[in-house]
Amino acid sequence: PPPPPPPPPPPPPPPPPPPPPPPPPPPPPLSLRQSEELGASPEPRIAALRHALCEEFQVWLSAVTQIELEPTIDISCAKYEYTDVLLCHDDELEGRRIAFILYLVPPWEKSDGGTLDLYSTDEHFQPQQITKSLVPSWNTLIFFEVSPVSFHQVSEVLSQKCRLSVSGWFHGPSVARPARHIEAPLARSPHIPYDHEILYEWINLVYLDVDSQAQIQEEFEDRSEILLKDFLKKEKYQLLCEALESKEIQWSSRGPANKRFYEAAEEDSLPDTLKKFLQLLRSEALFLLLSNFTGLKLHFLAPSDEDEDAEEGQAADSTGHSSLKPEQEDTEQPANGNPDQPHQPENTPEAQDGKMQSGSGTPVCAGELRRWTHGHYTLVHDSQATEFALDLLFFCGCEDWDPEYGGFTSYIAKGEDEELLTVNPEDNCLALVYRDKETMKFVKYINHRSLACLNKHANRTGFWDFSFVYYE
Ligand SMILES: *[C@@H]1O[C@H](CO)[C@@H](O)[C@H](O)[C@H]1NC(C)=O
Ligand SMILES: *[C@@H]1O[C@H](CO)[C@@H](O)[C@H](O)[C@H]1NC(C)=O
Repeated sequence: PPPPPPPPPPPPPPPPPPPPPPPPPPPPPLSLRQSEELGASPEPRIAALRHALCEEFQVWLSAVTQIELEPTIDISCAKYEYTDVLLCHDDELEGRRIAFILYLVPPWEKSDGGTLDLYSTDEHFQPQQITKSLVPSWNTLIFFEVSPVSFHQVSEVLSQKCRLSVSGWFHGPSVARPARHIEAPLARSPHIPYDHEILYEWINLVYLDVDSQAQIQEEFEDRSEILLKDFLKKEKYQLLCEALESKEIQWSSRGPANKRFYEAAEEDSLPDTLKKFLQLLRSEALFLLLSNFTGLKLHFLAPSDEDEDAEEGQAADSTGHSSLKPEQEDTEQPANGNPDQPHQPENTPEAQDGKMQSGSGTPVCAGELRRWTHGHYTLVHDSQATEFALDLLFFCGCEDWDPEYGGFTSYIAKGEDEELLTVNPEDNCLALVYRDKETMKFVKYINHRSLACLNKHANRTGFWDFSFVYYE
């Protein structure tokens, strides 16, 4: 049998690059072509259009909307072509009161895409669902009030037609907006007590070799990221892929649309193979392996006889307890299952389950199984929590996936457009990325081209990933 888990390796990797100065909120990602601000253009036809909008039209619009608009506008031109999209956002910016769009398109059908979709909102002022889809048409002007609930998108252009428009904003007195809704993060939990046998069952033995782990760690500490190819044993990976095709799995959409759109699996509905793989990702043994790969302290194990006993026999509760730091009892967090806890503030399941972990010093993880296909994405947003964390991505079912389709994970510095790193979906590949407080990530919108990549055998497009985050 393989040796017992070791004490965690010492130095954590150097934190990634130094933080840039505080940024403005990130704009919604643009893929379309946008002109410069046309406000000052001396070109006579543009000047004439601006004049028409600022003078006569502005007066009429103020009267109709009962908003005191200023006689100046922002105005620019946008060109959307095949697969261009502008995902859900609310247009809010200091002083913007009315958004307008004038369409200069050829005859246009709904099937061409490029519709202006308007969203309803929920009790937290978050977009809920598309309630109106406006098909652009030549020489038609659309306007709407910019407000905390003016969520809209330009859906992907699906044909070869060119969707040209002139758009901009009328300004007026600012309105107070509600505080940004901060959503509850995925529930985090400490490792579950599985010993190293689970690693030998699943993982390519190359990665369990101590020398190659040392090499991986060296590279990781250098770059804060690494890709481990052929990560699982071939036959295990095969089983995993077959299980993922199961019709039993219930997938539910994850939103809201201004932050994300993809499907996540309901864990209860998963076939055994997938449940076991999720257990691997949450196992104590994997926390140790990841510590070896990265030099991060994802385990506080000081190996004692007790631990070894637990490892020899059935995975026991004691394994988990022995790794808890003593300091933890001094914290004010409700300590789950600790009989000495002086006062348990609220005996709700939420207080019991999630809260003790945050900031308690016990390494934790959170993750899910996701399905990615045409139309899916995640966005950076200004209420996005950023913190030091280790991201793990494991991909399945993405043979012949082309980065042109989207679906890759992009890391950017907060408030900047420049990409720090792109992780492309790749079969049986484990990606590890250590990010800091100034790093944000998103999954690129999966466009219409992806439908060309049909898995004929299973009659499906898209891929899956297991997305986990580990916190020291
Ligand atoms: C981690 O590395 C140590 C040696 O540094 C080794 O003894 C141990 O088996 C490794 N742990 C895992 C889970 O591979
Ligand atoms: C493949 O899937 C599509 C869409 O899910 C469906 O319309 C079609 O009938 C399926 N084809 C076969 C051969 O099952």
